[in-house]
Amino acid sequence: MDFRHQIAVPGALAALKFDALVLVVTGDAVDAALDPVLATILKDAVQKGDLPLKKDKLLYLHRPAGVSAARVVFVVADGTTPKAFKAAVAQAIGPVRSSGAKTAAIGLAGVGSLSAEHAEAAVTAIEAASYVYRETKPSAAAAAPLKTVTLLSDKADAKPVQQGLARGNAIAAGVQLARECANRPANHCTPSALAAEAQKLGKTYGLNVDVLDQKAVEKLGMGAFLAVAKGSAEPLRFIVARYDGAPKSQAPVVLVGKGITFDTGGISIKPAGEMDEMKFDMGGAASVLGTLRAIAELKPKVNVVGIVPTCENMPGGKAMKPGDVVASLSGQTIEILNTDAEGRLILCDALSYAERLKPAVVVDVATLTGACVVALGHHHSGLFTADDAIADELLAASRAALDPCWRMPLDEEYDESLKSNFADIANIGGGRAGGAITAAMFLRRFTAKYPWAHLDIAGTAWKSGQAKGATGRPVPLLTHFVLARAR
Ligand code: BES
Ligand code: MN
Ligand code: ZN
Repeated sequence: MDFRHQIAVPGALAALKFDALVLVVTGDAVDAALDPVLATILKDAVQKGDLPLKKDKLLYLHRPAGVSAARVVFVVADGTTPKAFKAAVAQAIGPVRSSGAKTAAIGLAGVGSLSAEHAEAAVTAIEAASYVYRETKPSAAAAAPLKTVTLLSDKADAKPVQQGLARGNAIAAGVQLARECANRPANHCTPSALAAEAQKLGKTYGLNVDVLDQKAVEKLGMGAFLAVAKGSAEPLRFIVARYDGAPKSQAPVVLVGKGITFDTGGISIKPAGEMDEMKFDMGGAASVLGTLRAIAELKPKVNVVGIVPTCENMPGGKAMKPGDVVASLSGQTIEILNTDAEGRLILCDALSYAERLKPAVVVDVATLTGACVVALGHHHSGLFTADDAIADELLAASRAALDPCWRMPLDEEYDESLKSNFADIANIGGGRAGGAITAAMFLRRFTAKYPWAHLDIAGTAWKSGQAKGATGRPVPLLTHFVLARAR
C-alpha cells in the first residue's frame, strides 16, 4: 500500500476527493473547527444518538450530501494520543476496505495536527489489517483493493509525519515478514526454510548472512543445542545475519531469537490439545528476522547482528532423555530434567556464541514459558534483565512502539532452584512456581560477559481461537530499541 501525507485545512475537508474520508473524532472535537458541512452532519448524528461519543463507536455514511468523498466514516477515539488514534484507525479501516474504496484519507476531525507517532501508528494499524495468510490457503480472499492512504494534517508537521510514515512502513513490513514465517506450518517452515528466508533477506537488503549446519555446530561445541536437535530428522540450522550500519569499531546490538519450528515437548511430550500452536515456537526467530528487515530499510547508523538457533523438538529413538547431561558451549554441564524446556537449551549456546561478537548489548526473544502467559496474559511481553538502564531503554521502546512489555524480577534468590546433583545446572527449576523467572535465570547463567535482557513472548507472539495467527510482535519494540541506539 502507498501511504502519503497531505496538508489540509479542517475547514475544507468536504471538498477533498477521495473514495473514503475517515475522520477520527475525540470527545470535544465535535465543536472544534471543522468543515461546516461535515460539522453539521457530525453534530446531528451525535445529538440524535447515531454516533455515541464512546471509544470505538463508528458512523459510516454513503455519499452524504455536500461532501466530495464518496464515503465518510466518523470514528470515536479515546483521546488524541497515538495509541487512541491507532485503535480508531484500526476500527475504521475494516468498513473502508470492504467498501471497495481505492483511495482513503484519514485525519483527526478538527484537530489537524499529527505527530510522527500518529503516522507510524496509522500505517502499522492499516498494514496489520491488510495482511492475509495465503501460503497454504490460496483460496483465502486477497486483500481488498485499497491502494493509497493519505494522512491529513496541518502544515506544521509535514516532516515528522513523513518520518513516521517511513518508520511505520518499515516496521509493518517487518511485522508482516514475522507473521508470515510464524504462520507457516512446521512442515513448510522448517529450520532449512527459515535459513533460506534469512538468506533471501540478506540478498534483497544487503545483509551479511551465514548459515551453519550440524557439522559446524558440533565443531563449535554447542552440546545443548545439538541435544534438542538430535531427536528430529529435520536438520538444524544456526543463522547469523549482520546489518552493518556503522563503522566496524562500533560494538553491535545482538538479537537472539528462539527458532523451534515445532515443539512437541520431546520425550516429556506435550498433551495433544492445542499442540498445533507449537508451530509458533519460532516466533522469537521470526521477530528477529522481521526486525532486521525493518532496520535494513531504515538504514540507521548502528550495527546489528541477528542470531537464530533453529531446530525441531521431537521425541524418537535418538531424542534426548530426562536425566541426560550435556556440555554447553560455555563449558557448563546441563542436566536435562524436562525435554520440554528446550528453548533455553538452544538459546544458551546461542548466547555463548554471542560473546565472540563483543556486543554492546544482547537481547534474546523467545516463546519461552507457559508460565509467562499465566503471569502476564496476552498483552504484555515479559521483560527480564538485571540491568536497570537496559530495562528503561526497552520499556521506552515498547511505549513508543505501542508494543507493551512489563519488567519481571530476576533476583539471585531464584537461582537456587536450578541446582543439580549431576551437572552445573538443571534445565528446570524445582516446581511450577515462578516458571518464567527460573527460565530467565537459566539464561542469565550464560550472559555474564555482556549487558543482556530477555523477552518472553509466549503470550504475545500469536493469538489463539478464531483469530488464530502470528502477531509479529515484538518487531515494533525491537525496531524502536535499535533505532534509539543509532547515532
Ligand atoms: N514453547 C514452550 C512455551 C510455551 C508454552 C509457549 C505454551 C506458549 C504456550 C516451551 O518450550 C515449554 O514447553 N516450556 C515449558 C517449560 C517447563 C517444562 C519448565 C512450559 O512452559 O510448560
Ligand atoms: Mn517446550
Ligand atoms: Zn518451546
